[in-house]
Amino acid sequence: MKNFTSVGDIGDLKVALEKAKYVKENPFADQELGKNKALMLIFFNSSLRTRLSTQKAGMNLGMNVMVLDINQGAWKLETERGVIMDGDKPEHILEAIPVMGSYCDVIGVRSFAQFENKVYDYNEVILNQFIQYSGKPVFSMEAATRHPLQSFADLITIEEYKKKTRPKVVLTWAPHPRALPQAVPNSFAEWMNAAGYEFVITHPEGYELDEQFVGNAVVEYDKEKAYKDADFIYAKNWAAYQDPNYGKILSTDRSWTVDSAKMALTNDAYFMHCLPVRRNMIVTDEVIESKQSLVIPEAANRVVSAQTVLKEILLEMRKK
Ligand code: CP
Repeated sequence: MKNFTSVGDIGDLKVALEKAKYVKENPFADQELGKNKALMLIFFNSSLRTRLSTQKAGMNLGMNVMVLDINQGAWKLETERGVIMDGDKPEHILEAIPVMGSYCDVIGVRSFAQFENKVYDYNEVILNQFIQYSGKPVFSMEAATRHPLQSFADLITIEEYKKKTRPKVVLTWAPHPRALPQAVPNSFAEWMNAAGYEFVITHPEGYELDEQFVGNAVVEYDKEKAYKDADFIYAKNWAAYQDPNYGKILSTDRSWTVDSAKMALTNDAYFMHCLPVRRNMIVTDEVIESKQSLVIPEAANRVVSAQTVLKEILLEMRKK
């Protein structure tokens, strides 16, 4: 694996899950692989889980880890070519990227959708600039359209807890006071489709995701119907994708909050969310604190997904 930006980079999912299981059971078995290798984690946006779990993954592999918050302590970066740089951004990303690449062996990047220009967001301009100009393997720590390390951890968690070969997994939109990107639901849909589960997406009308991610999923606007017999309920808010409402909040309807009444319609489903989560907007206290809530083991598996991906990147580098 050279770069990791989507499910397409992980190869056969069954093999990837076997590798993840090995990493989870033997976290320090590959300390030599990362010895004298520098891992640089670059954040354009805030993070708790991704920052800590990816650092831990790198440390488990014997790597030296550097973290840079672009908006706290680094020069503000201009990202557009052709701009006359007479504003508040003293450095251009096209110099900053190769400089950062010269200081490390592997780069992780977090760069959310900005909701100013859908084409710019969905072309993954910043992530692709790192791939093009850093000269180093690059992996996504959540980009504008996907969050593959989260989705891999979600898949690992579902595999650990599922009670049948092909569980019914439901991705439900839930209300939130701020406009959030589609990266987590897009990516989750992509990985669930690849896993071949029975997969249903439910949301209010107007929140349809990009078809390339929806794939073969059933889209069900009747949430109660969607919840029926579900084995996993995966909640997430996202802002509208479709034009002319791209990036807008169309609803804060709290009848979509995951609560015990809707969970009672399921096949004693597990509750999942990538975190951070706004309680009693996305999910009630009762559901997130219930024995069916997987949010903590799901977050813990972020170390496993990151370490599995980093290990593959290091193995690829060793071949050269
Ligand atoms: N789930 C997730 O990516 O969490 P952070 O935003 O805290 O990294």
